[in-house]
Amino acid sequence: MVTGAGSGIGEQTAARLASEGAQVILVGRTVSKLERAAQQINEGLSDPAADIFQADVTKEEEVQELAGFIEQKAGDIHVLVNNAGTSGNSSILNMEESEWDRIQNTNLKSVYLVSKALGRIMIKGKEEATEVNRSIVNVASLSGHKAGAKIPHYSSSKAAVINFTKSLALEFAPYGIRVNSVSPGFAETPLTEEGLKNKRFEEAIQRNTALSRVGRPEEIAKVITFAASDEASYMTGSDLLVDGGWMIT
Ligand code: NAI
Repeated sequence: MVTGAGSGIGEQTAARLASEGAQVILVGRTVSKLERAAQQINEGLSDPAADIFQADVTKEEEVQELAGFIEQKAGDIHVLVNNAGTSGNSSILNMEESEWDRIQNTNLKSVYLVSKALGRIMIKGKEEATEVNRSIVNVASLSGHKAGAKIPHYSSSKAAVINFTKSLALEFAPYGIRVNSVSPGFAETPLTEEGLKNKRFEEAIQRNTALSRVGRPEEIAKVITFAASDEASYMTGSDLLVDGGWMIT
């Protein structure tokens, strides 16, 4: 299951997981975006690999309904990718409380709500099928490592996701469920579209990135898929930085 799967990194991750044989559930708020993404995955397949579920992952009732849907449809879940997220631009002094809450709820509270509701299903599944690879991947950010100007709410929420991942990894390790985070640098998605229209911003990214370019969402999706998979069977509580070398310049 991938949250925020109607666009960008989430959409690419769902497609990648499906291409590696997973049955995926695309979760998000906008049905039309989810349907388009699922249709692309299912195109040409005799047995559809993608299904959708509409939910706002900041709302506990909707997350509960999502958990109910998964229990009824599949009875189990192997991989959860907490990818839904959002950003904004504000200084601390000018920020409204509602804006602070919007970012914390979308980026951090959602990870707690979805991990709790679906983690319970994973733990139950583990008791019945012990050999299956089970893992959670949370999408954090380069900004969780290095605070950026005018995104104090975003940077702090993503730093919290990296730390929450470690707490959850400790709590779920006895059940054999691995939990890791992936921290993307700048990737071309609807989230960064506006900023990247500014040539100077794009040039600044190129200058500050060892690989001298913006990333593509599928390059992030591949690393998320690796962390989710059995290929990463001895990795838990880790953060994978996928930033084109931003942090080493
Ligand atoms: P995006 O805007 O295309 O994807 C985010 C998705 O989450 C959207 O489809 C959005 O509708 C969904 N979403 C937002 N709030 C939601 C809610 N309450 N309930 C359900 N779905 C919700 O942007 P992108 O870039 O693909 O972002 C994916 C993740 O990657 C986010 O967590 C973002 O913070 C993170 N990230 C992105 C970077 C980039 O440069 N694109 C850099 C670092 C991190």
